[in-house]
Amino acid sequence: MAGNSERLTTLLEGIEKRKVSVGVIGMGYVGLPLVIEFNRAGFHVTGFDLDPKKVSLLRKRKSYIKHIPTEKIRAVNKTGRFTATGDFSLIETMDCVLICVPTPLNKYREPDMSFVTGTTETISRYLRPGHLIILESTTYPGTTDEKVRPILERTGLKAGRDFFLAYSPEREDPNNPDFTTSTIPKVVGGCTARCLKAADALYKTVVPTVPVSSTKVAEASKLLENIYRSINIALVNELKICFERMEINIWEVIDASKTKPFGFQAFYPGPGLGGHCIPIDPFYLTWKAREFDFHTKFIELAGEINTSMPYYVVSKVVDGLNERGKCMRDARILILGLAYKKDVDDVRESPSLKLITLLRQKGAKVDYNDPYVQRTHKMREYDLKMTSVPVTENNLKRYDCVLIATDHTAYDYKFIVKHSSLIVDTRNATGDVKSSKIIKA
Ligand SMILES: NC(=O)c1ccc[n+]([C@@H]2O[C@H](COP(=O)([O-])OP(=O)(O)OC[C@H]3O[C@@H](n4cnc5c(N)ncnc54)[C@H](O)[C@@H]3O)[C@@H](O)[C@H]2O)c1
Repeated sequence: MAGNSERLTTLLEGIEKRKVSVGVIGMGYVGLPLVIEFNRAGFHVTGFDLDPKKVSLLRKRKSYIKHIPTEKIRAVNKTGRFTATGDFSLIETMDCVLICVPTPLNKYREPDMSFVTGTTETISRYLRPGHLIILESTTYPGTTDEKVRPILERTGLKAGRDFFLAYSPEREDPNNPDFTTSTIPKVVGGCTARCLKAADALYKTVVPTVPVSSTKVAEASKLLENIYRSINIALVNELKICFERMEINIWEVIDASKTKPFGFQAFYPGPGLGGHCIPIDPFYLTWKAREFDFHTKFIELAGEINTSMPYYVVSKVVDGLNERGKCMRDARILILGLAYKKDVDDVRESPSLKLITLLRQKGAKVDYNDPYVQRTHKMREYDLKMTSVPVTENNLKRYDCVLIATDHTAYDYKFIVKHSSLIVDTRNATGDVKSSKIIKA
């Protein structure tokens, strides 16, 4: 049997010569771009997913994520070095396995680790000496060492001796034209020095890496990044309400402040937090901190402010209708944008979903338009059963209020303002349009 340093040397050589196979578990927003990058770097890559629809679409060379064009999936398939599968026994034939499964919160807002532990259990069935296993899912510090490692070591194999185990968080920013998976540096932490060496070598073939001393540091670094965003967004959301009372336009203030060439980064207010990361990840730390008798006050406060934003927006709709002698009951409201941010098709945790629910609770009749989301699908918390309504002159005239929740570039805001009777704008999307019909919220 090969010794542990020999195993590492074999793996490193295999990485260098592109002779190792890479398996990516979870073909979502994080996993699919990784497949593309490792394939492009010359590896044979296998994408695993529980969802047969995704596997089938990938086999048909089709993309199901708006910002990943189908041509990219075709190019990956063309190399003959890509397999999409739901057959997890193929893990045994992989040399490197990256875990990119969801890490949501449960209904008590506690970490739901079932996807990570379930996947790790599956991997443990096929674990063999020489395997490199890397967790990519965002999670609390300690997960890789305390949760993943024990499951894998139950096999009798030991991390750092028989197999290699590491953590490397993803830093995707879907649809950001300035950065792609291959240009965003990747933080990497290993359970042991050998584990780090193996994981770092693999990632270096596709991205610049930032090795750190432990998996815990890598896990915490991802949380710091997302907590930083959550807190700064909460700050501008609070200032938006404060400045509004002072009759100061927050967006103009931010534009002025951001001319400072150092020590300031612009964050923008909105109708609330959305996406799979910022509204959720900070609470992974809050949960873990309790074990250490510590309360993460900043995170809680930011959460409180950000969660209250849809309620504030609804109050602005009420005000706008009121000024026009209308009430919320039976008011017809069109929400523009279901996705959580502009120009993407991702509706996870989108504030628009909360807005629809709150407005309906008050008796309003709500429709939505989103050029990228033709109909709603069943989610953990919501099953709205809605279909996107086209933005036409006649349609706009039918609504008592048009609520801009997401500032998609595709919208013609001048046209929207012209044909609507009241616009509540949560994103300053109509910033260039002057009209008494517009209320900023
Ligand atoms: N979306 C982002 O921009 C982003 C950015 C950074 C980090 N992350 C983190 O990356 C992780 C994945 O997020 P995502 O956005 O790619 O999620 P996603 O929902 O888009 O994709 C997850 C995929 O995993 C599959 N899956 C679930 N359980 C599985 C299992 N047991 N075996 C195989 N496949 C399984 C699902 O079918 C889905 O296709 C999360 O921890 C998230 O917080 C996401």
